Amino acid sequence: MKTSGGSDAAKRRAGESAAETVDDGEVVGLGTGSTAAHAIRRLGDRVDAGLDVRGVATSFASRELAVDCGIPLIDLDEAVGLDAPGIDRAIDGADQIAVGRGDEPAVGPLIKGGGAAHAREKLVDAAADRFHVVADPSKEAAVLDRSVPIAVLPDGRSAVADAVRAAGGEPTLRLAERKDGPVVTDDGQLVLDCAFGEIDAPERLAATLSATPGVVEHGLFVGLADAVHVGTETEVRVARR
Ligand code: A5P
Repeated sequence: MKTSGGSDAAKRRAGESAAETVDDGEVVGLGTGSTAAHAIRRLGDRVDAGLDVRGVATSFASRELAVDCGIPLIDLDEAVGLDAPGIDRAIDGADQIAVGRGDEPAVGPLIKGGGAAHAREKLVDAAADRFHVVADPSKEAAVLDRSVPIAVLPDGRSAVADAVRAAGGEPTLRLAERKDGPVVTDDGQLVLDCAFGEIDAPERLAATLSATPGVVEHGLFVGLADAVHVGTETEVRVARR
């Protein structure tokens, strides 16, 4: 589920900071959500000014926005695989970022999927040579403790819910807001939001969830991010791995 904190100005600074890192000729993964949208808009401005890039959308929403912004798009299948150009960089938001308990921000594990796009986001973000996370300070936490979204095969929802409970979590089927019944992802999956409390070992939990039949993808992104751009009211803090 979405977080409500964070100003639009802070999100814009973060998104634009990451969009400025894109070089001419790159293939760029275009993330989903309100912060990544600022990066897409800035990239569109740069395309208007002559930048040569091709985008790979992570959702219906990011595709529509990229089209509006005039960013040429290719499918993920055209971007990766034999003789494909690859993805140079992905820019995407997060629902929570573990920054550790130290003074300096770290590039830790993430929780994503507040917009139910995490399956395609993980495909694109993991395929990219560099993955830039864009966020406002409300997303930073010493330890991950938000619910982990899990996209499941519709027929597998009860079996996955049982496995989540066995792993110490409490699953809730995500319901749509302007439709009766559940949220259905762009790819036809249902979403279980799973509360685990503080997640002290995200890598272990990620492995457990990935090994559960019926799980299409979960929202724990461990070891994927290369840089985090956190926009504030006055500046952007960038942490790199
Ligand atoms: C989409 O499924 C999510 O992973 C988003 O990237 C995440 O929810 C961040 O969105 P906001 O930037 O709108 O908070």
